Amino acid sequence: MKHLLSTLDLDAATATGLLDTAAELKATLLGREVRKLPTLRGRTVVTMFYESSTRTRVSFEVAGKWMSADVINVSAGGSSVGKGESLRDTALTLSAAGADCVILRHPASGAPQRLAEWLEGTGTGVVNAGDGMHEHPTQALLDAATLRERLGELAGRRIGIVGDVLHSRVARSNVHLLRTLGADVVLVAPPTLLPAGVEHWGVTVSHELDAELPTSDAVMMLRVQAERMHGAFFPSAREYSIAYGLNEARLRLLPEHAVVLHPGPMLRGMEIAPAVADSSRAAITQQVSNGVHVRMAVLYHLLATGGGDE
Ligand code: CP
Repeated sequence: MKHLLSTLDLDAATATGLLDTAAELKATLLGREVRKLPTLRGRTVVTMFYESSTRTRVSFEVAGKWMSADVINVSAGGSSVGKGESLRDTALTLSAAGADCVILRHPASGAPQRLAEWLEGTGTGVVNAGDGMHEHPTQALLDAATLRERLGELAGRRIGIVGDVLHSRVARSNVHLLRTLGADVVLVAPPTLLPAGVEHWGVTVSHELDAELPTSDAVMMLRVQAERMHGAFFPSAREYSIAYGLNEARLRLLPEHAVVLHPGPMLRGMEIAPAVADSSRAAITQQVSNGVHVRMAVLYHLLATGGGDE
């Protein structure tokens, strides 16, 4: 693996290996006063974010720094992108300046794939940190890491992904990865927020959240992405919240062991009630912490082991 562009690129052994490495890194660093490993000393990681981010950007930076890499953050606003430089020229410039890995978030679906093509032969790897409505592979890995901690192995588990599946790169990456790991996935959404062709994704599709909760081992609540809807939002926010919001009454429909995930950022009171988000059943801050260790594992796999199979 030279790049991480999609969870479709991860077979079960590779995905499990990344999750095991993340768990080992977490155990190694637990309780340490100085969280610093020498593993990526001398390596340069560039984060290039063309879309806003809190969790992904910070956790990649922390991950690189905890492994002693030099981490450089480039944003569209503060770079020559603002003068009209293309993504290709920006990437080739960063590679020529010594980047061993470029971590890209971009509003266009497929941008990281194009970047990887342009950087072919340069030795610079690409990690997809979220591209449009397409994929967010490290989010799916950190979700799987969290589910493994809470539930054990995922084979045979039933995981609900609830809400705005249509616009969700998190949902797409999770569907691929959870299926690879042997879980059964149920997508729960109004028909207007499901993508065309979803019946071919190898998942169960439902429009009734209350009917799915009693048999779910976990529910992943998605943010409604109003910014990708260009003003059209159906059902309305209120209708959506009534039908698909995870409130305290719905939390009681879940089995005792079931866990609640949300990739963030959350719209409290919309897809998830504050009391649910702050309950012990929710693993939202655990997801963020695991994001650091999963991203450490990804950087380790790409930069310290040479990618393994290239
Ligand atoms: N989950 C996620 O990608 O969050 P950010 O947009 O804050 O990075």
